[in-house]
Amino acid sequence: MKFFVDTADVSEISDLNDTGLLDGVTTNPSLIMKSGRDIMEVTREICAIVDGPVSAEVTAIDFDGMLKEAAVLAKIADNICIKLPLTMDGLKACKHLTSDGHKTNVTLCFSANQALLAAKAGATFISPFIGRLDDINIEGMDLIAEIRTIYDNYDFKTEILAASIRTANHVKQAALYGADVATIPPATLRSLVKHPLTDKGLEAFLADWQKTGQKIV
Ligand code: G3P
Repeated sequence: MKFFVDTADVSEISDLNDTGLLDGVTTNPSLIMKSGRDIMEVTREICAIVDGPVSAEVTAIDFDGMLKEAAVLAKIADNICIKLPLTMDGLKACKHLTSDGHKTNVTLCFSANQALLAAKAGATFISPFIGRLDDINIEGMDLIAEIRTIYDNYDFKTEILAASIRTANHVKQAALYGADVATIPPATLRSLVKHPLTDKGLEAFLADWQKTGQKIV
């Protein structure tokens, strides 16, 4: 499973990239707003840090406007992935951009039928929003399972990018259900390493090691 980080915070991205665990980055207009940075400037910095795909989202809602914005975003770097909303215009733009050789991420997916359309439009990634479905009492993970089955039935190459991940359990479940990628907020990504028994065990090993008076040299 690939790990993307869901943020436009450059220092978090740089830090996590240094761990060697990062395969890409996703941003959206809300994350750009949260960063307080200029979209072009911050996206350029992110693309220089990470080798993998960096999703940058268009904000136009019509086909022509989306293509214009996509052309601007694509110029930032070779690893830009154009993020498009799951609307008819977004799907049309997706088809056009993928045929032109661009990487695309179709976002705001809340149903299996929407994911089927995105795959038919040739999307590189489909982003089903787990947490936002859970928020309205619909099991977000069921959507991952449905999309996995449909994509496997027809051998669609579109990668399932589990988004709106809020917890470590979401990451585990998305992996169990066969999502290709999880885009994870920085704090949740860091939390995956934590286990109280690891901390306790390490403490005990170090205490016993002290008692031996030895050093590994
Ligand atoms: O990148 C889009 C998605 O991950 C947003 O998550 O927590 O705002 O629903 P959230």
